[in-house]
Parts: sequence; structure tokens; C-alpha cells
Amino acid sequence: MENPFTPEQMASLGHQTPFFAFSLEKVKEKYNEFRTHFPDAIVNFAMKANVEPEILTALAEEGANFEVASGYELTMLKELKIPGSKIIYGTSVKPAEHIRDAHEYGVERYAADSFEELEKIANVAPGSRIYIRMVVDDTGSIFKFSEKFGTEKRNVIPLLVRAKELGLEPYGISFHVGSQASNPRAWAEAIEELVPVLTELDETNGIKIQMLNLGGGFPCAYASTEVFLSLEEIAGYTYEAYKKLPYKPLVMLEPGRALVAESGALVVSVIGRLERREQTWLFLDAGVYSGLFETMAYQGSTRYRVSSLRSSFDAGEKMFALAGPTGDSPDVITREALLPADINVGDKLVFHDVGAYSLVAICPFNGFPRPEVYYV
Ligand SMILES: Cc1ncc(COP(=O)(O)O)c(C=O)c1O
Repeated sequence: MENPFTPEQMASLGHQTPFFAFSLEKVKEKYNEFRTHFPDAIVNFAMKANVEPEILTALAEEGANFEVASGYELTMLKELKIPGSKIIYGTSVKPAEHIRDAHEYGVERYAADSFEELEKIANVAPGSRIYIRMVVDDTGSIFKFSEKFGTEKRNVIPLLVRAKELGLEPYGISFHVGSQASNPRAWAEAIEELVPVLTELDETNGIKIQMLNLGGGFPCAYASTEVFLSLEEIAGYTYEAYKKLPYKPLVMLEPGRALVAESGALVVSVIGRLERREQTWLFLDAGVYSGLFETMAYQGSTRYRVSSLRSSFDAGEKMFALAGPTGDSPDVITREALLPADINVGDKLVFHDVGAYSLVAICPFNGFPRPEVYYV
């Protein structure tokens, strides 16, 4: 599809800044890209990346399933009448009440990575289907989960066996290669690790898993992305490894970022320009607390592509530092934005590819409200 976020189109919107603009067509296009490259897989949108009802509806209309991380996300899906059969609960340590609510709603599939969690699920959601989250190598990814989530490979079989003893269904195995991955073989390498696990599980314990959940991690081409991977390339390596498994469980995916990042833009205004400590700073009316949370210096500190809405510049370009409007020192978006040199107060900028992990992480720090959201 044509880029819905050209400067001309954004300028024509004329809303008060800051505001988000989303393209539902783009969301649908990305979902169908996953369907094309992973034709037999069930694609569960990891809704932690974006919970706007219009986006969830657009994905549901295309046939997407959903992965929730809490009972609160589940409530949003209930309101949209998404049935429990299309939902998986993917956080491996969950509040018991949230599991109970999900079970009552008809959610059957739950992640776990500890014996304690299995006991908890067996108590409040008896008979549920369990998939064990295994820790995998996430060194090539920007946001790493392996410190907090996932059990060691050697525990996968004992956990599935215990699930069965507790009256749960030993349904599957999952992993997450880390968000914003840069190794196209990351998913394949994780699958390769599972060959002996599946063989032993079948031969020694008589358990064949029904489902293999390859998680998320599929990257977006941000300004800070050094190696961009296409879904086609990832799928190629992944299926090559999958074919070598002793049998073929159903494949599930849990993409968050890659489904929605490109569908969103944030339009902001310059509220101040000043020279400070050898840099030219543009202060903006939105910052890390208004949706650009991932730009904060944490693990990778995402740098989004940024462009100016005013096109008639003869002044050349210049490097700027961009800061948000709050009184907080970490509210710095980047120190390396190349923009028209004469940009000044009142000019508007567009941050691109901000559809994931943006609106969901807003906080009203210093009282700045949530930017409005429009659809183009
Ligand atoms: C369990 C689980 N699944 C899926 C995702 C989505 O990951 P990504 O946005 O990298 O696709 C996450 C991200 O935190 C996750 O924790």
C-alpha cells in the first residue's frame, strides 16, 4: 500500500498536536504478510503492543487470534466479543484471579515456566492446556526477556510431566527470542534446541506436544535498526528447522511490534529551540511520557525516523537533539535527528513507526495528557 504518512497527508490532517495517526489498512497488510510467510501458523497478536479497540477490531476482522498478558487485556477483548477460543494467556507468571477469570471466559491455553505456576493454574483453571516457556538465546535482540522469563531446557520435560499429573493438558512449548531481533536464525536455532526434547518427551514419557509457539521478536526498521530482517528470510530459516522436528506440532506466533509498529505516526510541534552544551535542542510538545517511551535509554533506546512537515526549506539540514516537554531529565528522545536547519517554534515533526509499545506506555507525568488518536 501507499505510505499513509507522507508529510502532505499528515499536514492536511490539521489536528492540534500532539496526536497519533494510525492506518488500519497497514495493520491488516502486516497481518496478511505474516499469513503469507507462515501459512499454517496461528497468528496471535500480542496485545501488549497496542490495545486501541479499532486496531484490535481490524485484526479480528482479518482473522487474528490474540495473546493477553493480563485480565485487564482480556476485559478489552471481552468487550469486543472476541471468544475465549481465540485467546491465549502468554505471561508465564500470572495473578491467580486473572487466570480464574480467563478460565471462566473460556480461555483454555496458558503459558507457565515454573512448578509453582502449574499448581496455581491447576487450582483455578483445572484441565487447562499448558505450554512451557523455555529460555532461548536472545543475544541478538534489543529487548531481552531471558533474565525474567523462561525455564531452562532441562526443565521443559519435568514441567510438562507435572502438568499432566496435575490434571492439566501438556499442550505445547513456547519461547521468545527477544523483541526487535537481529538474528534471522534466532527462531530456527530455538527450534533446533527442541529436537532432542520432543524426541525424549515422546519416547520416554509418551507425550507429543500439539503446539509450538515461536513467540514474537519480529523486528521493525527503525532509524536505529542496524540489520533489518524480512519476514520471508526469517520464515525460510524457521521452516527449515521446523521440518527437522521428529513430528510437526501446530505452529503459533505471538507478534506484537511487527504487526502494528509501522501503522502509527506521531505528529508533534516544536515548542522551543535553544543552544545548550554544544547542541541545538528542539523541545517538543510530546516526549517519552507521551508515547515515545522506547526512546528512553533502556536496553536499545529506539530511535524512530523523524521528518519535518514543512517542506520548503533552503537552509540545508542540521543535527538536533530532541526533548519532550516535561521537567524530567530522561525525557530526551534522541540526540541525533537530522532535520531542516531553520526549523523553529511552531513547526511540526512526524515520528514514524510508533504504533507499537507507545500508547500503551503513556503516563501523565507533569500532567501532560494522552495525545488524541486519529485514523487515516
Ligand atoms: C509472551 C510474549 N509474547 C509476545 C510478545 C511480543 O513480542 P514482539 O513485540 O517482540 O513481537 C512479548 C513481548 O513482550 C511477550 O512477552
